[in-house]
Amino acid sequence: MKVDVLLGLQWGDEGKGKIVDVLTPQYDIIARFQGGPNAGHTLEFEGVKHVLHTIPSGIFHGNVINLIGNGVVIDPVVFQKELEKLAPFNIDIKSRLVISKKAHLILPSHRLLDAASEAAKGKNKIGSTLKGIGPTYMDKTGRNGLRVGDIFLPNFKEKYDALVEKHENILKHFDNFEYNLAEMEGAWMEGIEILRSLTAVDSEQYLNAAMKAGKKILAEGAQGTMLDIDFGTYPYVTSSNTVTAGTCTGLGIAPSRIGDVIGIFKAYCTRVGSGPFPTELLDEVGEQIRQEGREFGSTTGRPRRCGWIDLPAMKYAIMINGVTELAMMKADVLDKFDTIRACTKYIVDGVEMDYLPYDIDSVEVTPVYEDIPGWGTDLTGLTSYAAAPQALKDYVTYLERHLEVPVTTVSVGPDRKQTLATK
Ligand code: GDP
Ligand code: IMO
Ligand code: MG
Repeated sequence: MKVDVLLGLQWGDEGKGKIVDVLTPQYDIIARFQGGPNAGHTLEFEGVKHVLHTIPSGIFHGNVINLIGNGVVIDPVVFQKELEKLAPFNIDIKSRLVISKKAHLILPSHRLLDAASEAAKGKNKIGSTLKGIGPTYMDKTGRNGLRVGDIFLPNFKEKYDALVEKHENILKHFDNFEYNLAEMEGAWMEGIEILRSLTAVDSEQYLNAAMKAGKKILAEGAQGTMLDIDFGTYPYVTSSNTVTAGTCTGLGIAPSRIGDVIGIFKAYCTRVGSGPFPTELLDEVGEQIRQEGREFGSTTGRPRRCGWIDLPAMKYAIMINGVTELAMMKADVLDKFDTIRACTKYIVDGVEMDYLPYDIDSVEVTPVYEDIPGWGTDLTGLTSYAAAPQALKDYVTYLERHLEVPVTTVSVGPDRKQTLATK
């Protein structure tokens, strides 16, 4: 059995949580492979909206294992809050959720370092979610990190104290940065106790044994390709590999075992936080998309920046990820637009380009658009793609022609049921 992957092709928030939830009945295991509580994955069904940060989006289905892989970073405080929100749904977390012993822990002092570093960057700040993601991955690659497996060791507290001491020494170098670490530590230690009571596994062994036994696995990405540490709009990115290759390193899956790669994107484009966004609309059209699409962050509540779809960026993402099929989300958000625009190339220094330049941050990138007629009807009640307006089908065909990958799913609302298979 191969591992299928679902990941974002834009700057995150494409609707990964919704589609993982929709696909979960076809799988035995849903596995998160990177990121941490910077993610906010929204699922909606039976009139209730759920937002998950660390826990995979298959958690609401019985008989499915949800796995937090070694590539993920976990904040025990956020994690405990997530569990508390799930409590009314009577999910047997101990048997349905397994956590890699090799996943790294976000310490309260990592959050402080994130905040101090962002404050020191001033107007060049990344716009991080302030969840401690960057500092935690820095400690991972710097070989200082604490891992989930460490919480079971007798010298865990010593290791914790040693790392905190390092962090406090670094914090001294930031001007005017005040903090009260002791105040944050109680909740963190409580979260560690909760983690200790759950199921920690050697997740690479677990997953490879499951594959051998014929189990179907779906890897759930967080963030999006344009936020990837290597291939995104560096330095305005997150600190992990959000791309298909991240599945291999974040779960211990060999490259030859990757199966279908489902690339997910919005019918337009959004970004939250700082950094280049060539198709951003700073006018009333952007504002209309924000209002119609309720484009406010699931994790931070920040307004998301909105713009038209960026095909060169998506082609790049498809190339890097080896995408085999596409899911187009939030088509209904464009219901009221007479005309939809798609960026097909850029002009950079008077020269046409069909991919983002290296120095995207310092040169002017002017998008070149094609106009596509809108459908002008409410899509939210659609129950089959066959019944969809021709203009929507034409938009999908247009995208398939440019992207050279089939669009197999079109989403027309936040609910599980508002999901159409096109083929
Ligand atoms: P994720 O991080 O990729 O899981 O995406 P988020 O949950 O951060 O953001 C997607 C938002 O769009 C959520 O509020 C979803 O409930 C909502 N959503 C998902 N699909 C659709 C859709 O097809 N139409 C509309 N209107 N909203 C959607
Ligand atoms: P999901 O999984 C959208 C953005 C932040 C910031 C940059 C770095 O819900 O799609 P970080 O806290 O990771 O150091 O922030 O990345 N960012 C996201 N944007 N969706 C996300 O996750 C994001 N996770 C991080 O806004 O610009
Ligand atoms: Mg999100």
